[in-house]
Amino acid sequence: MTITQCTNGKGSKSIGEKVLITGGAGYIGSSLVPILLERGYEVFVFDKFEYGIFPLLSVASDPNLHIIRGDICDKSQLKAAITDDIGAVVHLAAIVGYPACDRDQALAVEVNEIGTSNVVDLIQDHQKLIFASTGSCYGAIVQMMPFQCGLNLSGNGEDRDKRDYEVSYEKIKKLGFRSTITLEEGIEELLKTLPQMSQWEIKLSKNI
Ligand SMILES: NC(=O)c1ccc[n+]([C@@H]2O[C@H](COP(=O)([O-])OP(=O)(O)OC[C@H]3O[C@@H](n4cnc5c(N)ncnc54)[C@H](O)[C@@H]3O)[C@@H](O)[C@H]2O)c1
Repeated sequence: MTITQCTNGKGSKSIGEKVLITGGAGYIGSSLVPILLERGYEVFVFDKFEYGIFPLLSVASDPNLHIIRGDICDKSQLKAAITDDIGAVVHLAAIVGYPACDRDQALAVEVNEIGTSNVVDLIQDHQKLIFASTGSCYGAIVQMMPFQCGLNLSGNGEDRDKRDYEVSYEKIKKLGFRSTITLEEGIEELLKTLPQMSQWEIKLSKNI
């Protein structure tokens, strides 16, 4: 497995090499998954889908993307996913950031310590493990923001940048967007993603 190929620019397709990404539907995972797919990897996302499946929708129809709902704290689920033919595991599943860890400390220990040691235990000699550490391990960095950012600050908790995401198919068509996949491909994509949707995603999608 030459996972380094995926970081050294275009032209090095790695056809069929299998990579499993724990937490692949998260912030970093959902950016990494399309890059690996584009470079020819077969990608297995192993995630609890705490924040839903939306971040992966743009690549859900890719036949090289496989979605596994699972919990890294459940060693048997993880063992079933890290099959012998997986070349590398990118471990991103975590409770991320101090506020989230502080909110539920027991869960943070369970996922970040026990979950991670489950992954380490199950890795075999021929498999690579890639772990993303966090800048939080350096402690709080207190300094002024070096540049002016364009966010609108809210005084009352309301998100002043929010847009209305509740769009209907009709509205999408009126905007000039056309389907780029067949009905069959669409159904396949739905079957892959629907079971992973969170309650809020179901609510958000009610018009689509
Ligand atoms: N976001 C950053 O800027 C940043 C920077 C440096 C390092 N990191 C590290 O990268 C990793 C991923 O960060 P992120 O920002 O993508 O996090 P994230 O919170 O956006 O994503 C974490 C993913 O893990 C999944 N998950 C949580 N618990 C799980 C469990 N028990 N089993 C399976 N899946 C589970 C969630 O559903 C989610 O999809 C973390 O280790 C983080 O510390 C992040």
